[in-house]
Amino acid sequence: MMVGSEGATDGTGTSGPGDSSRPIVLIAAELRTLLPDDPIPGHELVWIEDRDPTPEGGYVALISLLRRRLGEKEFEGLPKLKVLAQCAVGYDNIDLAAAARRGVIVTNTPDVLTESTADLTWALILAVARRLKEGQEMVAGGAWKGWTPTQLLGLELKGAVLGVVGAGRIGQAVARRAVGFRMNILYTDQEPRLELETAIGASPRDLPDLLAASDVVTVHVPSTPSTRGLFNRERFGQMKPGALFINTARGDLVDETALLAALEEGRLGGAGLDVFAREPDVPPELANHPKVLALPHIGSATTHTRREMAELAIRNARAVLAGKDPITPVSTGTR
Ligand code: DGY
Repeated sequence: MMVGSEGATDGTGTSGPGDSSRPIVLIAAELRTLLPDDPIPGHELVWIEDRDPTPEGGYVALISLLRRRLGEKEFEGLPKLKVLAQCAVGYDNIDLAAAARRGVIVTNTPDVLTESTADLTWALILAVARRLKEGQEMVAGGAWKGWTPTQLLGLELKGAVLGVVGAGRIGQAVARRAVGFRMNILYTDQEPRLELETAIGASPRDLPDLLAASDVVTVHVPSTPSTRGLFNRERFGQMKPGALFINTARGDLVDETALLAALEEGRLGGAGLDVFAREPDVPPELANHPKVLALPHIGSATTHTRREMAELAIRNARAVLAGKDPITPVSTGTR
């Protein structure tokens, strides 16, 4: 259900009970408390909840969240749309080719969430390496009988190998933090990251070599047709026995059945997962597995970052609506 508009109601782009001359912007209702009043002056706002289907009408901008699927059909129903400002760095929910065919500029929110997502990745690395879930459950369940020298032994990070799959902004921020833990750092990326190599001594590897050598593998590639299902039975089979697998990127990079099998067979030592293939559905076998720490996609969830993301999405929309270049474009809408 739409949660309301400030003025317009019919989505024709020009009419409504408020100021009928103002163009109308569709905006995710979940962003409301993160934004100032009147975030796009001179425009009517229609707030839509994530579960609402995308309405049709003469809206000039759409500020969207990552669960809203936007393809040919939706763009067809939004003939006056100039800008689709996604409030997320990932945009795998958007058909960019369809947007380009309609001349719609697409923007995202990079940079502002890099550090918070890297922090959350490290929260998972530490938690899984030191078996915090099992420890917490032991204490909460009254099963702890006191200190023993061999209880819940985990992975010592110092001297261990961190394999960063995808050394873009977030992958690099994760790698930089590993220096403080005195880990050896490997990375794989489409391009050499010479600055990272010089700054922290990270070494490039191809994926099979990285998987074979790493004690902790952390994934930071986008979801694209060529990366979906990347972590399958074969990839998990290439990992060092007992290694840990961390994913704060996108759930569909992983074949969850293969991941579960690798955990069950003891080939993997544990997994830290913030993202899932069919969110918000999480296979209960994964969520309840003692070696899996599962979180509800909260990589960027700090107050500071979520405000910055919302504000950047708005600034992108405002720029395009004012006839200026977007600040952080994904695609420029040129056919
Ligand atoms: C993104 O931005 O793509 C994240 O998944 C949510 O912050």
